Amino acid sequence: MDLCQRWQAHRGSLPPGGVPWPARRRLLGADRGPEGRCRGGLIFGSWDREAPSLEEYLGDICWYFDTLFGDDGLEALPGCQRYTIVGNWKLFCDNFAGDGYHVPTSHASAFQVDATRRNYAVRAGHRFMVHLAPAHGLGAVTLGADGYDGDVERARELGADAVEWVQERHRRLQDRQKNRPSKLAGWTWGQCFPNLNLQAFDSALRGHLFILCHPKGPDSAEIWQWCFVERDAPRSIKALVARTATRGQSGTGLIGIDDSENFERITENMRTVANREIVSHYAMTLELEGRWPGQAEWPVTGLPGFFGPSMWETSQRRFYRYWAQLMGIGV
Ligand SMILES: [Fe+2]
Repeated sequence: MDLCQRWQAHRGSLPPGGVPWPARRRLLGADRGPEGRCRGGLIFGSWDREAPSLEEYLGDICWYFDTLFGDDGLEALPGCQRYTIVGNWKLFCDNFAGDGYHVPTSHASAFQVDATRRNYAVRAGHRFMVHLAPAHGLGAVTLGADGYDGDVERARELGADAVEWVQERHRRLQDRQKNRPSKLAGWTWGQCFPNLNLQAFDSALRGHLFILCHPKGPDSAEIWQWCFVERDAPRSIKALVARTATRGQSGTGLIGIDDSENFERITENMRTVANREIVSHYAMTLELEGRWPGQAEWPVTGLPGFFGPSMWETSQRRFYRYWAQLMGIGV
C-alpha cells in the first residue's frame, strides 16, 4: 500500500472534524479536515472550500509532474532537512521561479570543485526557461536524451545493476512520451506557486528535491526539503543521490550556501534608507517576449507552457503579479 492509499484509507476513518488539530482548525476557520487529492504520489490538501480545484491550481505544471513522477513510484530518502535563511520567502521562490542569471557566477566555485556536476557553461543541448500559468516557473528545462549517456557512463562505476536500472528508467520515461514529438528530460530548478520549489534533474543519478519555503516573518524563512528517488532504484544509486543532494542544494551544500548568502546580502542592502527610493528592475527581455531569435527552430512542439531562452524574467514578473492580485493590492 503506498502513501496515497494509506492516506485515503486513514482519511475515511477520521472522526467528524477531520484532522485532529482543533486549534489550527479554529485559526483557519475550517470546520472540517482539508480537502485532499493525490497526484503522482503526492498528497495535496486545502482548507479553503472556495479554492480552485487542484488541476486548475496546478495548471500545466500537472503535465510536467505526471511526465516525470507519474508512474515510477518515488520514495523520500530518510530525513527532512530544515534550515533557516535570512530573507523574505518571496526572494527564495523568485529565485526558483526563474533566476537563471545568478547560476554561472554565484555557483562558479561549486562547479569548479564538484566533479559530479556538469559544466554549466559548456554543456550541450537546449535549455529553456518555461512559464506556466497561473504563476509557476521552470528553469533549465532540457529535452530528449540530455544527460542519459553521462548517466550510463557514471553508473558503470556503481555496477551492472545500476547501469541496468538507468537504462530501464530511461526506457520508461521515453515510453511515457512515445507519442510526443518533443520529449521532456527534466529541469534544474522550478517553482510551483506559491512556495513549493522543485529540482527534477534530467539525470537518474541526482534525484528530485522538493523544497518548501515557509515564511517566518518579513526577513526570515524556514526551508523544509526532501530528496525523492525512484523506489526501485538500486541501493548504490540511492546512496549516490543522497550524497549528491546533500552537497548541492541543501543547507550544508555548496549550492544552497551560495544562494543563502545572496539572500542575506540582498536583504541587508534592501534595508538601507537609500533603497526606499530605488525601484527593482524586473524587465529583462520584456521587449522580446514571444519573438525570440531562433524560436522557430526550438524543438518544443506539444510541450505546455510559455517557452523562452535560458535567461529571462517572465516567471518572476508573473509570480509577483499573481501574488499581488491574490493579496488584493493590485499592480
Ligand atoms: Fe542558486
